[in-house]
Amino acid sequence: MARPKITIVGAGNVGATAAHWAAAKELGDVVLVDIVEGMPQGKALDLMETAPVEGFDVNVSGANDYDATVNSDVVIITAGLARKPGMSRDDLLQKNTAIVSGVVREIAPRSPNSVLIIVSNPLDAMAYVAKKVSGFPRERVIGMAGVLDSARFRCFLAMELDCSVEDVSAFVLGGHGDTMVPLPRYSSMAGIPVTELLSEERIAALVKRTQGAGGEIVQLLKTGSAYYSPSASAVQMAESIIKDKKRILPCAAYLEGEYGYTGHFLGVPCKLGAGGLQKVVEITLTDAEKTALDRSYAAVVELSQICERML
Ligand code: NAI
Ligand code: 2OP
Repeated sequence: MARPKITIVGAGNVGATAAHWAAAKELGDVVLVDIVEGMPQGKALDLMETAPVEGFDVNVSGANDYDATVNSDVVIITAGLARKPGMSRDDLLQKNTAIVSGVVREIAPRSPNSVLIIVSNPLDAMAYVAKKVSGFPRERVIGMAGVLDSARFRCFLAMELDCSVEDVSAFVLGGHGDTMVPLPRYSSMAGIPVTELLSEERIAALVKRTQGAGGEIVQLLKTGSAYYSPSASAVQMAESIIKDKKRILPCAAYLEGEYGYTGHFLGVPCKLGAGGLQKVVEITLTDAEKTALDRSYAAVVELSQICERML
């Protein structure tokens, strides 16, 4: 049986690190694509030379065109500009719409049955661009944001509770931006709701830190944005799809009536398995949570509509 094939477009910080995680997990053969000549080939060869040390047995190759991507099972798209200090994710809109639409035009005809995992920002709008340009059904175009945002919330909760991150679960829904909606009510330490463990003030502070967590890293790095946790998050989604794990992960999904929204992407709990998005899981929300989600959805719709006019 042929190994699964994973193409990663954009071999920069997120893309190359995703290739590293995917190879280390032996998820399948990896093809790295970038416009910078020699760079994806060099990083791929470097990873191949890591294999004897780490003991992973997959093929990693690099390319500047798309011939090597034919018949990929999963395509992770990280191509595009990343944030620098002072830039919001939305500042990336125009350039990344052109980049992501160009990439998808190359990918879709060569891998017509692939599942696209979009990472490029602004995330929910770029997922919308990828869906429009590919013409793929919603099952096969999914955005990565919620896994990352929830991991950040889990990390901050574990630090606050002084316990293992393994015992903290949390959900962050909504768009990948300042309007994202961390849900303390659905967050727990070993099943105990964090609302029973921490004061309202502390939870509010951790929610705020989560909403600004991407910017916190940008301020520290000064030359770009986070990449270890984003790449690990994208690969976790790919793993659930490739291995048909049916994990319930918060992802940006194209909504068709769920949560009362239709026709745009938003971060919601998703079941990921063979074929991509198997189900959008609906949870009950309080009025305040739903109002926050409405606000987030409105922000996403506004950006997606701007993108649509650029296509
Ligand atoms: P980076 O600058 O390190 O890498 C981007 C790569 O894309 C570069 O190597 C560049 O040459 C390549 N590229 C540009 N145009 C291309 C094209 N037309 N075809 C193929 N490759 C092309 O940036 P980084 O840190 O890897 O971030 C990538 C994107 O992911 C950014 O848009 C960033 O904002 C986004 N991001 C999204 C996250 C999320 O939660 N959804 C988290 C982290 C980053
Ligand atoms: C992040 O959240 C910049 O979207 C990127 O780190």
